[in-house]
Amino acid sequence: MNRHPHVHFHDLQMPASDFRQDILTGLQAEQKHIAPKYFYDAEGSRLFEQICTLPEYYLTRTEIGLLKDHGPEIAASLGQNVTLLELGSGSSVKIRLLLDALRPLLYVPVDISREHLLQSAKSLAEDFPWLTVHAICGDYAASWEWPVQALPDSRRIAYFPGSSIGNSTPRQALKLLGRIAALLGDGGGLLIGVDLIKDREILEAAYNDSQGVTARFNKNLLARLNRELHADFKLEHFQHQAFYNAVEQRIEMHLLSDREQTVHVADEIIRFRSGETIHTENSCKYSISGFRQLARQAGFEPREVWTDADKLFCIHYLQVQK
Ligand code: AVI
Repeated sequence: MNRHPHVHFHDLQMPASDFRQDILTGLQAEQKHIAPKYFYDAEGSRLFEQICTLPEYYLTRTEIGLLKDHGPEIAASLGQNVTLLELGSGSSVKIRLLLDALRPLLYVPVDISREHLLQSAKSLAEDFPWLTVHAICGDYAASWEWPVQALPDSRRIAYFPGSSIGNSTPRQALKLLGRIAALLGDGGGLLIGVDLIKDREILEAAYNDSQGVTARFNKNLLARLNRELHADFKLEHFQHQAFYNAVEQRIEMHLLSDREQTVHVADEIIRFRSGETIHTENSCKYSISGFRQLARQAGFEPREVWTDADKLFCIHYLQVQK
């Protein structure tokens, strides 16, 4: 018997050849880079969950605090009888705080990490027996040929938590938000968590935690390439680096080669100078007004904003422009 009759699963994973080509193109570029979406294999997703509980990583607990403090108000802005999408749903902890108040017709979590997504979809269906879940495994930034035709003809609301929008540059974010607006269509709305610009010390501590979990998360990328692309990175010869780039208003994460070295990746030879880095992530920070401006350019009408007393983090509600 199917224990989860309300859970449907759609796998839109990219082919292995795209992963290989993406990684090689990035490692052969002048500034070596790897897209942050590749952090999230099973081990990377587990490490990210751990990051979310770290004392220095204020983002998750502040966003959860906002959902708890303003849940009814947020649910009232979003409205009822909607199809609720969640982009980068992870373990779906945050959405649990809204489900009872929202009572969506359908919940559509989208995440790149397959096992994680399946587990959380099943556990949600157990805890909310009235909820129908259509889980989509895929890269929310890549493909919009989703099985959305199968979605009911109701208003669409998306939740994009965790300031994941910050992992795109403002230019990329503009495109991504524009695509989300198109997907949501008439009457649609987007609830989106965004990290705020603040003192360098607080920002840099959040990405250089004292337990070294973020460093392990960053280096797991190299371990993943060793596992999946027959690479031979020596993890002890690369250092985790995270700093605030005030001009670009973003945290940058890199993996720094501490010596001149040669690495094999999928039958190619990659050479590193001493001190050369692989750029692995941007985490862009915004002011409230700066983000509202970006949202407007992308085709949204900014509505409510909720923020904490220390102005660490905020949640915007945006409606698709008529
Ligand atoms: C998922 N994303 C919003 C996190 C961030 O803060 O940019 C990923 C992360 N990288 C290092 N720590 C957390």
